[in-house]
Amino acid sequence: MSEHFDVYGGARLVGEVEVVGAKNSVLKLMAAALLAEGTTTISNCPRILDVPLMADVLRSVGCEVEMADDVTRITTPAELSHRADSAAMGKLRASVCVLGPLVGRLKRAVVALPGGDAIGSRPLDMHQNGLRKLGATSTIEHGCVVAEADGLHGAQIWLDFPSVGATENILMAAVLAQGTTVIDNAAREPEIIDLCTMLTEMGARIEGAGTSTLTVEGVDALHPTEHVVIGDRIVGATWAFAAAMTQGDVTVTGVDAHHLDLVLEKLRLGGADVTTFDGKGFRVVQSERPRSVDFVTLPYPGFATDLQPFAVALSSVCDGTSMITENVYEARFRFIEEMVRLGADARTDGHHAVVRGVERLSSAPVWASDIRAGAGLVLAGLCAEGVTEVWDVFHIDRGYPAFVENLNRLGARVERVTAEPDRVAAG
Ligand code: EPZ
Repeated sequence: MSEHFDVYGGARLVGEVEVVGAKNSVLKLMAAALLAEGTTTISNCPRILDVPLMADVLRSVGCEVEMADDVTRITTPAELSHRADSAAMGKLRASVCVLGPLVGRLKRAVVALPGGDAIGSRPLDMHQNGLRKLGATSTIEHGCVVAEADGLHGAQIWLDFPSVGATENILMAAVLAQGTTVIDNAAREPEIIDLCTMLTEMGARIEGAGTSTLTVEGVDALHPTEHVVIGDRIVGATWAFAAAMTQGDVTVTGVDAHHLDLVLEKLRLGGADVTTFDGKGFRVVQSERPRSVDFVTLPYPGFATDLQPFAVALSSVCDGTSMITENVYEARFRFIEEMVRLGADARTDGHHAVVRGVERLSSAPVWASDIRAGAGLVLAGLCAEGVTEVWDVFHIDRGYPAFVENLNRLGARVERVTAEPDRVAAG
């Protein structure tokens, strides 16, 4: 038996929805707790599957982790294991973020290659090269990244691409290295700033958070802290797209609207009336059929690849034709095959997709291949005639707290159903 969502088409979403802490921040902040002996408290944690999975990863190296409501308490012992190779590691991508802290703190680590979404190739060469620059050896052995150093020293590191994960791992090793590390072409995502903020609260010395150059002055030890996770801009943007697609009126709180400047501008170009509330939230009102807009995914502050499925879903019901260019993950266009099942007029050529808007989609059973594709299919289902079954919803549960409840509160009709699927996996 497996779970799917029945999504009833024809809803117009209206109301207010609160966004909590960002998945792609909290998981890294949990890893950062490994850097300091004692109890670190992280609040505004989202209730999503990935948080208990990350807790299991931390327990596997010796931490105690308690989760109550939106607070996660991590107690890191003086003696940590350098082996993070439990089964939990394979279940999420962010598990690889224990690599930097373990190397920083213990000067050695054996970290199982991570799992996560099927969105394209996700090598670790930049993570490894960064650690090598800091003085560690790094190899892949028996499915694990193995890193070892006599001591870590500061270094000048240039990343080939502003990788989020590589920036985080190198940063978390460099905070305990001797001397100054400069990471150039670093990722600038708000979640990187959040990590830098927490590390600084723990006693790290970091300059340049939110810019392409991070300068880290190594310190001897860090101490535990209490930290509040930033709001999830990707979840916030999901609601913004939902409002535009359903010609609705949705107010989103708990997220900094400046993190979505480009996204909200795209929706404005499509005809939405967007109001922002001093960085604390925003309102999207779409009173007529949205007009087509082009999208190009790029690292922050570009349009996030995580929002590409929503760009495709919106374009599929717009008036006009959109070109969507994917520059980060080549396999993310797999989502389009499922959109075509729903009647979307979309085709891909390399890393471009052309989507001609249709008046109305048509319900069908569809399969989620990753978190965002899953949520994108649910939004598409809201605009489809009939009842769309979205399968493999565990992907959605990994990243969206109370998704069904929030949709229903905004006036949609979405039901979680346990049943036998007609086919086992997306085509
Ligand atoms: C993070 O993944 C996010 N995941 C992803 O969100 C997000 O799509 C991605 O950043 C880009 O924004 C988490 O934070 C847990 P990258 P990450 O390293 O860190 C290439 C979601 O839906 N690369 O910035 O793994 C890589 O192949 C998820 O929430 C190398 O070539 O992404 C990709 O093309 C899915 N070598 C590009 O860089 C490396 O060593 C960006 O990857 C590292 C990355």
